[in-house]
Amino acid sequence: MWLPCGCTSKTIVTSYARRVFKSYFRVFGRWKCNVAALMPEAVGFEGVKDCSSLQEFSVSNSASFWAAAARHRLSWIKPFHTVQDCDLSLGRIKWFEGGQLNVSVNCLDRHVHTCPERVALIWERDEPGSEIKVTYRQLLEMTCRLGNLLRRHGVKKGDCVTIYMPPCPLAVASMLACARIGAVHNVVFAGFSAEALAERIRDAQSSTVITVNQGVRAGKVTELKRTVDAAVKDCPSVQQVLVAMRTENPVTMTAKDMDMEEEMLKEDVVCEPEAMDSEDVLFLLYTSGSTGKPKGVVHTQAGYLLYAALTHRYVFSYQDGDVFGCVADIGWITGHSYSVYGPLANGGTTVLFESTPIYPDPGRYWEMVQRLKINQFYGAPTAIRLLLKYGDQWVQKYDRSTLKTLGSVGEPINTEAWEWYHRVVGDGRCPVVDTWWQTETGGICITPRPSDPDAEIVPGMAMRPFFGIKPVLMDTEGKVVTSNPASGALCLAQPWPGMARTIHNNHQRFIETYCQPHPGYFFTGDGAYRSKEGYYQITGRLDDVINVSGHRIGTAEIEDVVNQCSAVAESAVIGYSHDIKGQGVYAFVVLKKDADDQEADLSQQLNNMVSKKIAKYACPDFIQFVQRLPKTRSGKIMRRVLRKLVERDLDGLGDLSTLDDPAAVQEIIQGHRELC
Ligand code: PRX
Repeated sequence: MWLPCGCTSKTIVTSYARRVFKSYFRVFGRWKCNVAALMPEAVGFEGVKDCSSLQEFSVSNSASFWAAAARHRLSWIKPFHTVQDCDLSLGRIKWFEGGQLNVSVNCLDRHVHTCPERVALIWERDEPGSEIKVTYRQLLEMTCRLGNLLRRHGVKKGDCVTIYMPPCPLAVASMLACARIGAVHNVVFAGFSAEALAERIRDAQSSTVITVNQGVRAGKVTELKRTVDAAVKDCPSVQQVLVAMRTENPVTMTAKDMDMEEEMLKEDVVCEPEAMDSEDVLFLLYTSGSTGKPKGVVHTQAGYLLYAALTHRYVFSYQDGDVFGCVADIGWITGHSYSVYGPLANGGTTVLFESTPIYPDPGRYWEMVQRLKINQFYGAPTAIRLLLKYGDQWVQKYDRSTLKTLGSVGEPINTEAWEWYHRVVGDGRCPVVDTWWQTETGGICITPRPSDPDAEIVPGMAMRPFFGIKPVLMDTEGKVVTSNPASGALCLAQPWPGMARTIHNNHQRFIETYCQPHPGYFFTGDGAYRSKEGYYQITGRLDDVINVSGHRIGTAEIEDVVNQCSAVAESAVIGYSHDIKGQGVYAFVVLKKDADDQEADLSQQLNNMVSKKIAKYACPDFIQFVQRLPKTRSGKIMRRVLRKLVERDLDGLGDLSTLDDPAAVQEIIQGHRELC
């Protein structure tokens, strides 16, 4: 059995954390008024009586708002002297300068001090009913042992550690151990292929990789260590690989490998936390953009943690003692902010979900809600759409009376799925919060809550900005649209503490992608609609990024792989509307003149290549072989036309006068009919 190793009853808490923690509660205890009930640190903010006036205050007095929140929500080693020093047009974003803190102390030690036996993690393993609970005391011990182990093996402040693990306590302890010793973590989704992993390890220049021997998902075993072996071969920076045993099956160990749990047992359960500057890097997380190369989004210490904690508490109305069930993988930002950092900073109990929504049957989520008494459930529309097709009986079999809030994230939630989630899953009594945000925003930015508990929620709309967030819509000329209703490019007009600071090793790309399109604003890459009431609805990406089952992928990344096939001359990949996945992948492929492979064989070969070089979810659902792609006379592929062709919206093809060869369109229409 894979349990948190070596747990003793010793309580570990550093003296400064104890001091700060005491004063934190002294201050909290004094406030008693309505605003205090809403948000204790808001007491005394001028004109703030309720949630909407607090939102207004947080935007117009951003520095006062965030300073108060940072002082009261985080434990500092050294107080900050400057709340913010930001210039969005230059890509300069700094929060809480002068301050020092340790993220793992904020997530662990201060809770160990008051409630060591409170459950921090519920590891919902693949087999239902085999969950393992880890208390704050145990998690701190695991983290400290691991922090000491990393230190003993030469990992220093600023070094990058890549974590290639499914959701599990040791993965969380690995993240927190990095935070404890000042190392930067780089969690790579354990569904990524060896090549995708290697690319991320190389870009991050990681010296250390942490993994498990095997993964277990939906009853199937995956050879994660073997994937790491293949990746590490092409990564000269890697000096050591720590291997934890998720299953009992031994794996071949190389000279670089060490048995993580065995080594952890040799370590002390006390690990002195590193004092980190607010703007030191906490983690990198690779995500897709519109070029073929994934970008390492950089988040820093204090601002990220504060934003994750505040959004976790207020968007979901998280109360002490609640069980928070975010079913995202820790390899994505949702797992970082709402399975790990937000809940733990708040001293919460958080679920780590290892399985799938339909294993062993489509009742899995709701059986888990009943068994673990989950109060807030946070998942992706793609899973909701899948489950609603199986019927209400899979939900109604289980007691869901503990549920208080239902969250949705990652992609637009269509009205049918929203209503089913609300009516069937939540019995019509739980608010559904459709939360819009991104890897780059660090936490939720647009969401129906917080607001007056009785305030309306419109199905399928993310609705209202979170505290400190000021969304704007830009028209095609780059001007801010002030009227309602309106549509436009979604930008955020003010910096907020949780936002990304840069792209690892490429600040220029950060500036070009987010700051230059609309100088002075953060450009999100999404389009949005604003209703006459001022509510926001996200309409989808404006760039060549698509969203497959809530997984973000650049079409250029897939094209890069397809074009590597020796028979392929060129390709164009687009997203199309898919019932369950939200978007599917459609690839148009032009073969070289001398290619003599059968199309069926080639399709298989291309799918294998995408799966091997990226991940399974990126594989095309359709591959259409065409003689040529529709291009402008200057040689640019007209993706707009391809999208319309696949949607069979022939009336919407628009202006084709710039097409180099209009016959290309007719050929594609014919081929598409035959394929689908
Ligand atoms: O297009 C938006 C979509 O997901 C993108 C961000 O993807 P990622 O960085 O992987 O983070 C996903 C989890 C936060 C956004 O640019 N997206 C996210 N949430 C929503 C959404 N689209 C519509 N509605 C949402 N609630």
